[in-house]
Amino acid sequence: MDMPTRNPRLRAWVQEIALLCQPDRIYWCDGTKEEYNRLMAQMVAEGRAIPLKKRPNSFLFRSHPSDVARVEDRTFISTSSKDDAGPTNNWIAPDELKATMLCLYSGCMRGRTMYVIPFSMGPLESPMAKIGVQITDSPYVVCNMHIMTRVGTKVLRALDEGADFIPCLHSVGAPLEPGQPDVPWPCAPAIEQKYIAHFPEENLIWSYGSGYGGNALLGKKCLALRIASAMARREGWMAEHMLILRLVSPEGRQYHIAAAFPSACGKTNLAMIQPTLPGWRAECIGDDIAWMRIGPDGRLWAINPESGFFGVAPGTSYRTNPAAMEMLWGNVIFTNCALTDDGDVWWDRMTPEPPPHLIDWQGRDWTPDRGEPAAHPNARFTAPTAQCPVISPDWEKPEGVPIDIFIFGGRRATTIPLVYEAFNWDHGVFLGATQSSETTAAIIGEVGRVRRDPFAMLPFCGYNMGDYFTHWLQMGDRLGDKAPRIFYVNWFRKKPDGRWLWPGYGENSRVLAWMCARVDGKVGAVETPIGLLPRPEDLDLRGLDIPPEDLQELLRVDVDAWRAEVSDIERHFAQFNDRFPQRLREQLRGLQARLEAG
Ligand code: OXD
Ligand code: MN
Repeated sequence: MDMPTRNPRLRAWVQEIALLCQPDRIYWCDGTKEEYNRLMAQMVAEGRAIPLKKRPNSFLFRSHPSDVARVEDRTFISTSSKDDAGPTNNWIAPDELKATMLCLYSGCMRGRTMYVIPFSMGPLESPMAKIGVQITDSPYVVCNMHIMTRVGTKVLRALDEGADFIPCLHSVGAPLEPGQPDVPWPCAPAIEQKYIAHFPEENLIWSYGSGYGGNALLGKKCLALRIASAMARREGWMAEHMLILRLVSPEGRQYHIAAAFPSACGKTNLAMIQPTLPGWRAECIGDDIAWMRIGPDGRLWAINPESGFFGVAPGTSYRTNPAAMEMLWGNVIFTNCALTDDGDVWWDRMTPEPPPHLIDWQGRDWTPDRGEPAAHPNARFTAPTAQCPVISPDWEKPEGVPIDIFIFGGRRATTIPLVYEAFNWDHGVFLGATQSSETTAAIIGEVGRVRRDPFAMLPFCGYNMGDYFTHWLQMGDRLGDKAPRIFYVNWFRKKPDGRWLWPGYGENSRVLAWMCARVDGKVGAVETPIGLLPRPEDLDLRGLDIPPEDLQELLRVDVDAWRAEVSDIERHFAQFNDRFPQRLREQLRGLQARLEAG
């Protein structure tokens, strides 16, 4: 077999996988534009991709209706001991899972090309970068990986020099018999055949049966979060489900913010915020993942390991996220969006009124009276980070940016105020550990149910979440007074009639500005049982028309609702048994005592 690398481990692995999966041919990706264009042209010719007349070099894909989101029920953390995966992860013993998956992988690429994708998460010259090699039988995945990661020969050269890599094996799980025609979106037919498997003890990823998003683009959730979080714990750094943002005050002072929200809660919108507050501006550094380590100055420095945005399309509009709309002018892969009659994409709430006729995400005629969304609620765009008009000039700095502020948040119609600050690091870790949100379409399953999603990492923590809490506490001990300040936000509190209390989007800059003033010691806060809240007059609301009673409600601590919250938190914490840190138990007792006293 002819291989463009000297790396013995990579050569042996590719050989082994080729023997196992039996592809018709093997192709090594070089990451060039020419390669991308060739694969796209091939997919267009095969009827898998639709070129968009209205957007240069942009294509629409429609997935199989069963393959539309991450499959959390089929995602496994396979450690030797079940306890090391913890109560929030699905677990199968490595030997058993490998035996099952080896059967599935056997001959699974027959009739297909096996692509080998050498990629880097993070700029190659960054000390924080990690190299992965994904093997896949999906050309759609190859093109997405071109955008989302740094693919190419520079990575192969690093591997030649002996760089380590994380092997990421992926198959859509749909071998072709000789003469069997292919389908536009091959995937394994049954949900029980899909496996998104992680072996953190050997830094290994095996994914089978799905071609969609985080199930298939293995650099993202699998490598940069699940495997990286386990490595980060062992090595003393952090891999978090966080956007990274630089906010610049009218005086020119820079603040760096990292914020964790569950999937489809507006991370991309916040990452590209255009502040409405006069004189303030923002630069985007990343919208989904932050890798952070303590720098020589003792502060926490963050890089965005990705090089693209894989954003939720529905809801994105010139009103909610003008920067994203500008970014999507061309060179974009759209998945499960609707197609307009003049050859463009459309999704829910992109424009105030839908077009009178569309082809929906399943290729069917659609008119506004259909009563169903034209785009799938988890329809996505894949776009190069460099195209974002508000991208920071420093987004690829190898050392990253120093974080001043952590924000946790979720989607909650009641109880949780607009913003509050943690009393100290341990209390901040408690806020992260108790994060909660109503579920969205980013995962297969029920939408709108409140679930605890600690640090927005519930689906992404590659080890026991109890140990993860301890890791956070220990990072705080090491950071000491250089630790970022921690805040909690909820943009989604509603009136009893179901309307939002807070306008959100660019107006969120008013809340961010309060946080910056807190960091600088320039503004007060009231101490409440749950944390430090702004008084209405502490928020700069000039030019915003918000009724005083709405503001009062946004900042109200509903003690009865919080007592109910405490019982739910007790249940949530109980599942971690002896892996649960005592320091968080004390935080819960503190909250209980303050609520009783208040
Ligand atoms: C994502 C997710 O795709 O969190 O970023 O689901
Ligand atoms: Mn995400």
